[in-house]
Amino acid sequence: MDLQLTGRRILITGASSGIGLATARLLAEEGARLALCARDEHRLRAATADLAAVTDVVLASCDVTDRVSVDAFVDTAVEQLGGIDGVVCNAGRSLMRTLDETTDDEIREEFDLKIFGALNVVRAARPALSRSDAGSVVIVNAILSRQPELRLAVTAAARAGLLNLSRSLAGDLAADDIRVNSVLLGLVDTGQWQRRFHESGSSDDFDAWSAEIARDRGIALGRFGTADELAFPVTTLLSPRNSYMTGAALDVGGGVHRYV
Ligand SMILES: NC(=O)c1ccc[n+]([C@@H]2O[C@H](COP(=O)([O-])OP(=O)(O)OC[C@H]3O[C@@H](n4cnc5c(N)ncnc54)[C@H](OP(=O)(O)O)[C@@H]3O)[C@@H](O)[C@H]2O)c1
Repeated sequence: MDLQLTGRRILITGASSGIGLATARLLAEEGARLALCARDEHRLRAATADLAAVTDVVLASCDVTDRVSVDAFVDTAVEQLGGIDGVVCNAGRSLMRTLDETTDDEIREEFDLKIFGALNVVRAARPALSRSDAGSVVIVNAILSRQPELRLAVTAAARAGLLNLSRSLAGDLAADDIRVNSVLLGLVDTGQWQRRFHESGSSDDFDAWSAEIARDRGIALGRFGTADELAFPVTTLLSPRNSYMTGAALDVGGGVHRYV
């Protein structure tokens, strides 16, 4: 099936690792042209070095919580690619703490990252997206937004706010024919979990360690997802063929969600 992404200009935040990087690779295979950012430009350039042989790639160091930095990245993308057809708001991390363990400053930072990390990008890209004939935004969010966990209390609250905001954005941006959808993740084997594995000091290998967590969390498929398994739904939501889907939130968590 042709996803009609050839030549489409897609901007992805947090593209040096994990889901953002896997999505960039899949989109490049589909013939999309890319604008990619992360804070550490050196790591971003190293991770995406091979993509330039496949498609046009604009790279920038950008902190999504900094509006000036986001505006500059979006301006560069529009100038170098001639416009933007799709945006993936993916940059981020989670704060593995209970409420008692979290300071007020950390709570503010977490809300800043989740809310402004998406809002800054969508606001900056809206004029360019509105000039596209298939403008689409995908917000990478988490099942945690609907199913909180005590050990991720603040991240869960911030993600719930982002999910709610995504519905409002879908309503607002429909006026410009821009679709806005969310992908809700469970547990995915990426940089975040590899870092936690190394910090755990476990004598197991990653597969055994993560299988135990999968059992503990009740993931129906019994394992973490892979970045490639998330890149596919993100990519299909960007496809112009998905033209009637907006304001939706797709669960991609291997069956970890307990709600119906
Ligand atoms: N993996 C999971 O189990 C899981 C579960 C639920 C939700 N998620 C969410 O999925 C998204 C992708 O995560 P991942 O698992 O692929 O993580 P990852 O492998 O750690 O990648 C995170 C990416 O985001 C970038 N980033 C972080 N903070 C940023 C900022 N303020 N501005 C710009 N870039 C920033 C990182 O690069 P720099 O550090 O260089 O900036 C990196 O490129 C995140 O929003 C994460 O919270 C992941």
